[in-house]
Amino acid sequence: MKKIVVIGGGTMGLDIAQVFARSGFDVVVRDISEEIIKNSEARLNKALDKQVSKGKLDEAGKQAITGRMTFTTDLNLAADADLVVEAAIENLDIKKQVFADLDKICKPETILASNTSSISITAIAAATQRPDKFIGMHFFNPATVMKLVEVIRGAKTSDETFKTVYELAKTIGKDPVEVNEAPGFVVNKILIPMINEACDLVYTGVASAEDIDKAMQLGANHPMGPLALGDLIGLDVCLAIMDTIYQESGDPKYRASLLLRKMVRAGFLGRKTGKGFHDYNK
Ligand code: 3HC
Repeated sequence: MKKIVVIGGGTMGLDIAQVFARSGFDVVVRDISEEIIKNSEARLNKALDKQVSKGKLDEAGKQAITGRMTFTTDLNLAADADLVVEAAIENLDIKKQVFADLDKICKPETILASNTSSISITAIAAATQRPDKFIGMHFFNPATVMKLVEVIRGAKTSDETFKTVYELAKTIGKDPVEVNEAPGFVVNKILIPMINEACDLVYTGVASAEDIDKAMQLGANHPMGPLALGDLIGLDVCLAIMDTIYQESGDPKYRASLLLRKMVRAGFLGRKTGKGFHDYNK
């Protein structure tokens, strides 16, 4: 593996791209508009400058990382990629379209991976003619820091594809787990319903957002409270995951909190919009 293409220059896509570039891979970050891609490049520079100012990276190291990264709107740059990791919006139709296009553009050996947080790998793979070379490669936010990668087998993922991606995750300094496809996979199936429960505790007036987060930090030793974590992940992403788990399982225990849905409708999505359960404009 030499060349990796990351589809999506948002929070996850950019961090995933940075992780690969730090490990010496040539990385292309592709998004749909010049404005988005310029913004991604600026955010990368800012994040690396922060590392330099902390003494965690020197200027030469920064140049080496940025020198390995290309930002583009041109999907054709994926033609000779060894791996494509998609981190676009959580929408099955959009993902299927992206992968149908990639399937035509990429060389036959290219492995196609999705960083989807809960959508069926088998369903996305069905948009391609290479479901044996299709896999889930699920990173965790912030992807530059979190050690886990869930490597998710779809119904037709080959053992060879699985082994290649599992080993690759180790090569980039991550600690992978093997997962068979199921809605929410492992971490999100446990984590997102917990965040949803925290939303309901706010909704039913049991405690304030601050006290719920404090309770879980001090009472369960979580590094951050569930509502602060929901704000970090993005409340829209949390809602999309709850809705997928609910639809796929048909189990009412996975019904999204009415408050979570209301906040997403209002545009209170967490850190990325400056306000979620906590205020980030201060
Ligand atoms: N982006 C990039 N780097 C970040 C960051 C961010 N948002 N937040 C913190 N960091 C970095 C810091 O720069 C620091 O790096 P350094 O050691 O090189 O200086 C390091 O992380 C530690 O940060 P801090 O000392 O400031 O803060 P903490 O020790 O409190 O750690 C945290 C911050 C790592 C975010 C920690 O609070 C944590 O682990 N929280 C839980 C995160 C979590 O559960 N993520 C999974 C979400 S689920 C998911 O992503 C799946 C998806 O499908 C929804």
